[in-house]
Amino acid sequence: MQFKRSDFPEGFLFGAATAAYQIEGHQFGGAGPTHWDTFAATPGNVLRAENGALACDHYHRFAEDLDLLRDAGMDAYRFSTSWARVMPDGRTVNPAGLDFYDRLVDAILERGLKPFQTLYHWELPSALADQGGWTNRDTCAAFADFTDVITDRIGDRVHAIATINEPWCVAYLSHFLGHHAPGLRDIRATARAMHHINLAHGMAMTRLRAKGMQNCGVVLNFDHTAPLDDSAGAAQAVATWDAIMNRWFIEAIAKGTYPAEALAGFAAHMPAGWRDDMAEISQPVDFLGVNYYTRHQVTTDLAQPWPHLASHEGPGAKTQMGWEIYPDGLQSFLTRLADDYVGDLPLFVTENGIAWDDHVVDGAVDDPERIQFIAEHIAATSRAIAAGANVQGFFYWSLLDNYEWAFGYEKRFGMVHVDFDTLKRTPKASYHAFKSAIAR
Ligand code: NOJ
Repeated sequence: MQFKRSDFPEGFLFGAATAAYQIEGHQFGGAGPTHWDTFAATPGNVLRAENGALACDHYHRFAEDLDLLRDAGMDAYRFSTSWARVMPDGRTVNPAGLDFYDRLVDAILERGLKPFQTLYHWELPSALADQGGWTNRDTCAAFADFTDVITDRIGDRVHAIATINEPWCVAYLSHFLGHHAPGLRDIRATARAMHHINLAHGMAMTRLRAKGMQNCGVVLNFDHTAPLDDSAGAAQAVATWDAIMNRWFIEAIAKGTYPAEALAGFAAHMPAGWRDDMAEISQPVDFLGVNYYTRHQVTTDLAQPWPHLASHEGPGAKTQMGWEIYPDGLQSFLTRLADDYVGDLPLFVTENGIAWDDHVVDGAVDDPERIQFIAEHIAATSRAIAAGANVQGFFYWSLLDNYEWAFGYEKRFGMVHVDFDTLKRTPKASYHAFKSAIAR
């Protein structure tokens, strides 16, 4: 890999990321049903109707997985704590769930890794989904209670806490486009979810601060948005899409406002009194996590309902997801976030990665595409730092091949290959290359 640790400021953290439902094996340890189980069991939603019941069996194999992180010389591990494992009905504590995360955090620390916890990475307990999930304001208060419960148990040992992972996916992808659970295509539900997920972040922040917690923030995803051509319609589509995808959450959190271009469509559907929540939503955070994968080219299509959008993959090389590889987009978001929103606030690249159709051949996995992808995105991160962005770490998505949501187990993002029949882990060439690059 064409970078080395010494290219980065002292203390810069290299790590890898995962999420509970994607790796743990949700059938174990008394975890409760989630809206992802329902979504996956409903025809047409998920490739082969696969779900997270077994996943990578990380629940039983976490020691081996954490050894892989340690042996690669990583500094930090980003993971999530499943609400439905800790509180199977969203409200009642499952002691075995708390015990699991207690053991996990100790095991992370024993290996000299900094634990970066995410509180919500998408597996909403079914009991709360039945009551409207993120369209229902009560879910925010229940999430704040979960924040208290898990923090009381492991908050003394985690290095950093992110409230929500990718609120755009929780709200828009899941309630407007219908691609993720709960699979709605409903603008009114979307507007409510777009606001309530921010409120859930704000209410969780309030609880964390009441306990004196530091290093608290949120993880947002950004998608480089370019005009399809030089038409006025394309320029208009960029303004609207950038507002929905890239500005809605950071503006709420950094400035306490929503962009007018997005409110143009959502205002009529927003929950009553939403403006009164903006102060709690915009309380200070200690860091911002940035997830970045690709760019899209957009233009206006008036045959579509608001936001009247036609979106295309860019012209460059694609990953196994069909996503264009566009490293400059990462540099531009890191710089833009520093310049326009957060100034000197610490930024972390909390996810960046590539899915590829990887195979084990003679006990090894050769993945030069991943090695190149990582090198290019690390270089983009470096350029952003040189331009003044206070980026303090980079987490590759993902440590392991895992449950890629609507794509089931087909798309392989891992630095470590997982055979989903035997659950055998095989570090890929990219794992070894990353290890050499970050060696001290
Ligand atoms: C974003 C999500 O946080 C993660 O769960 C997902 O697997 C990756 N991106 C890849 O799509």
